[in-house]
Amino acid sequence: MREYRIAVYAGDGIGIEVTTEALKALRAVEARCGFRLKTTELPWGSAWSTAHGGHVAPADFLDILRPFDAVFLGALGMPSVVPDHICLVPLIRMRQAFDQYVCLRPATLLEGATTPLAGKGPGDIDLMVVRENSEGEYTATGGHFRVNTPDEVSVQTAIHTRKGVERILRYGFDLARQRRHRLTMATKSNALNYSMVMWDRVLAAVAPDYPDVVSEKVHVDALAMHFVRTPERFDVVVASNLFGDILSDLAGALVGSLGLAASANINPERIYPSLFEPVHGSAPDIAGKGIANPMAAVRSAGLMLNFLGEGEAGAILENAVADVVREGRVLTPDLGGRASTGDVGDAVAARVAVTQPS
Ligand code: NAD
Ligand code: IPM
Ligand code: MN
Repeated sequence: MREYRIAVYAGDGIGIEVTTEALKALRAVEARCGFRLKTTELPWGSAWSTAHGGHVAPADFLDILRPFDAVFLGALGMPSVVPDHICLVPLIRMRQAFDQYVCLRPATLLEGATTPLAGKGPGDIDLMVVRENSEGEYTATGGHFRVNTPDEVSVQTAIHTRKGVERILRYGFDLARQRRHRLTMATKSNALNYSMVMWDRVLAAVAPDYPDVVSEKVHVDALAMHFVRTPERFDVVVASNLFGDILSDLAGALVGSLGLAASANINPERIYPSLFEPVHGSAPDIAGKGIANPMAAVRSAGLMLNFLGEGEAGAILENAVADVVREGRVLTPDLGGRASTGDVGDAVAARVAVTQPS
């Protein structure tokens, strides 16, 4: 039987709640499709830190994770217990150390979900944010000086490499070829006169290799505006780490809820494990209330199965979520319903048993 080793890092807050529900869907689909997921639950996060001297994960956590086929993550962050810039370190370290330089964040408006955009419906939003995930604004390069004095100085340096920009753009172009042959690159070369000017140059150098893809660059501020006004214009949207982070939360809102937005942090060369997680965070504002939408986690699990080569199972998870949204009977409050996290997880798992993969 096909077997995959999955590290389950549920994390904090609603990360733990939605992971429980995604595992129900995964158990249902493995039974149906005839493979086995060997899961190992890792209790790391803010709760773990209270018994481990404030550390949110073991010092050798990357060595522990490396042998797995994939990491499935809920969400990290509980600022009331551990400062965010400490609690989130394992997530950013995984992306960089495991060279997960592609972050795929699909945003498709499902039938039954309500976009906040007037006059838009299913068919109008079907885009993929391709976020550069290994460098840019996230390299933790910088420092503080004269801390807590009126003369305090903070330096935070973004690092953009030609190799890093080129590989994410080529990934985006290849993906556009499998979609609607359109690529938009987020830039800000009118102000960021080194980094984004290089991004523009790399786009100009790479685009001729893909004559069948229509490409453009758009300043990220205007791009945010166009996301709202004319989302139908976008297919593949390639962005730097921070721009992609911001645009993907916006895209999640446009398709009805951040609670639907999935993501895949991919090492395309498969040298290291890839990481699958919802776009959303640990939502301390609703944690423990049983109202978090687990669908983003289920869809992230679907992306994981696709990546592992279990495309039929991945499609079943995606279609099970789409079925439950379309039916509209069992939805959490973010989608206008009154169901609990567990009710939605159960409804999705029940659909997994019967829905068609295509
Ligand atoms: P968040 O994504 O956790 O929440 C933003 C808003 O969306 C909140 O009002 C929340 O209630 C709502 N929301 C998010 N997910 C939802 C779901 N599944 N169902 C229903 N509503 C949902 O972002 P935040 O409030 O900025 O951050 C909270 C914590 O999460 C912080 O510690 C932050 O650093 C962390 N964070 C972690 C990740 C991650 O682990 N990948 C991502 C983003 C934020
Ligand atoms: C995300 C999150 C993370 C990011 C944070 C929690 C470090 O917002 O995955 O989108 O900025 O990448
Ligand atoms: Mn984010």
